[in-house]
Amino acid sequence: MKDKIKQILDEIALFSTESKEELEQFRIKLLSKKGLIPSLFGDFKNVVPEERKEMGQALNSLKNKAQEKIVHLLDQIESKSEEKPADLDLSLPADFGELGARHPISIVRNEIIKIFARLGYTVSEGPEIEDDFHNFSALNFPPNHPARDMQDTFFIEKDPDIALRTHTSSVQVRVMENQQPPIRTISPGRVFRNEAISARAHCIFHQVEGLYINENVSFADLKQTLLYFARELFGEHTKIRLRPSYFPFTEPSAEMDISCNICGGKGCNICKYTGWVEILGCGMVDPNVLDNCGIDSKKYTGFAFGMGIERIAMLKYQINDIRLFFENDKRFLKQFDSAR
Ligand code: DAH
Repeated sequence: MKDKIKQILDEIALFSTESKEELEQFRIKLLSKKGLIPSLFGDFKNVVPEERKEMGQALNSLKNKAQEKIVHLLDQIESKSEEKPADLDLSLPADFGELGARHPISIVRNEIIKIFARLGYTVSEGPEIEDDFHNFSALNFPPNHPARDMQDTFFIEKDPDIALRTHTSSVQVRVMENQQPPIRTISPGRVFRNEAISARAHCIFHQVEGLYINENVSFADLKQTLLYFARELFGEHTKIRLRPSYFPFTEPSAEMDISCNICGGKGCNICKYTGWVEILGCGMVDPNVLDNCGIDSKKYTGFAFGMGIERIAMLKYQINDIRLFFENDKRFLKQFDSAR
């Protein structure tokens, strides 16, 4: 038995490995139920009484040595696997994970801003919570006029004077209050209307308002500006058509259609087989509005226009449900950002 103990001690002293599997084999060989050490303990009953004390101590020490060696090797193997690989280059940029994409509404808004910037238009912003004066009265909506019902308004806390703006035309009032002509500005922003949500309408959407005030501004200037805009956004073959319309803040007023960018004007289900799709409202700023905002209507004239960004994005990208813009489904959003 002494010899066997000595032999196993030598084996323990010499054993070394970097593999967990080999270490496990070693443990099984020495310490499992049928392993070398338990079987020596089994032989202990045959040891003569005079040697029992010594053999018992030797066996226990052998078992301890085997266990210590295994724990030690396991520690070594595990701390090695946590170490950095030798070729780790700390100067390399980190992995940033998955990048997001720009929202199609932001893409179209930025494109509209860029087109008008080329014509010298600045960008103006105003508050989303507005008072009656800036959203309605200054824009020539008389009190109790049915035109106010065209835009179902969200009021704040039953105060009829404070509401979520129903259009970005409110920003033109703020600009004219604070600036004298020449004024050339566009106002992109969120607007709110108390409407049932469907594939074609939402209670929150985005508009861009445009305003140009100077001496001798004419309807021809408006038409040429909008033609330039439509061709920049939808392509050089785009045609425009202006239909008479009504808005309280412009006189005369018009709605502008573009030749259908899907079928090129031949007729399809997007343009309802008319060849034309409406994209904005516009007109010559009503002199009452200029006066309400502190601009001399005898000296200056101007035009204004307003468009829904969702509507334009839907036409541009052939999206048939406005609700998709508000769901933030990454699979939808990442289709539009070509800068990625
Ligand atoms: N504010 C109008 C709307 O929300 C859009 C609009 C029409 C703006 C004509 C204008 C304009 O500036 O001249 O429907």
